Amino acid sequence: MLRKPAIVGNWKMELSHKGALEVVRALKKLLKGVNIVSDVVICPSFSSLSEVAAAVKNSDKIQVGAQNVHWEDRGAFTGQVAAMQLTSFVDWCIIGHSEQRALTGETDEQVQLKANLLLKHGITPVVCLGETAEERQADQTVSKVTQQVRVLLASITRTALAKMVLVYEPVWAISAQGSGHMPEPSEVAEIVLLIRKIAAGKFGNEAAERLRILYGGSIKPDNIERYVAEPGVDGGLVGGASIHPLQFLEIVKKVQMAIGEE
Ligand code: PGA
Repeated sequence: MLRKPAIVGNWKMELSHKGALEVVRALKKLLKGVNIVSDVVICPSFSSLSEVAAAVKNSDKIQVGAQNVHWEDRGAFTGQVAAMQLTSFVDWCIIGHSEQRALTGETDEQVQLKANLLLKHGITPVVCLGETAEERQADQTVSKVTQQVRVLLASITRTALAKMVLVYEPVWAISAQGSGHMPEPSEVAEIVLLIRKIAAGKFGNEAAERLRILYGGSIKPDNIERYVAEPGVDGGLVGGASIHPLQFLEIVKKVQMAIGEE
């Protein structure tokens, strides 16, 4: 398998601490009999990270990620969390999510700083890229994603590239946006190819072929197959469906069926 599939569950701010522990325990049970050949990652809120991490400590099937991190190593940043504080609990961290970008004005440059910092601390960055509805209407999807990828890769080494996971997640396709729309799988494949081409331009074909790229936005058990069936789509970033253990399990299974044994 050239690229190990990855399914990342983004729990957002949907679960209480008790609820988070219930979901992780249920998931652990459900995954018991399943042969896991992908990276299955759950991303709770900061407040539940340590206990969720403890709950999966001996599991070789579930890994834990954070939903954000600050771009500075340490300092006077009230309310923020640093990469060095996450290392005890997580192996993964989502950055550049559109909800975070919209809320705090997070820039591509800050996303790039965060990626570098996470890599320095041995945490896999899950970097979200994608255009808004307005940008799509203005036919700016390609230019927007190109810009985001260029900035992200500007100061990354080839070794670091192999440790990152990128996600094409069109903002308008996220379920919380309520548009009810998703891109055609072939459109996702085109953007994934675009991202890989940019990576190849900087690091060569072999490195680009090893880069994992996921799709994100309204993934459900009944639609994931169509996306991972496309060449180059290595899994998914799952929001709403990830807090329902049965749905998440179904998505994991479908990804593995489609590309797990590649
Ligand atoms: P969704 O969320 O699956 O509920 O659309 C995805 C995300 O925002 O990461």
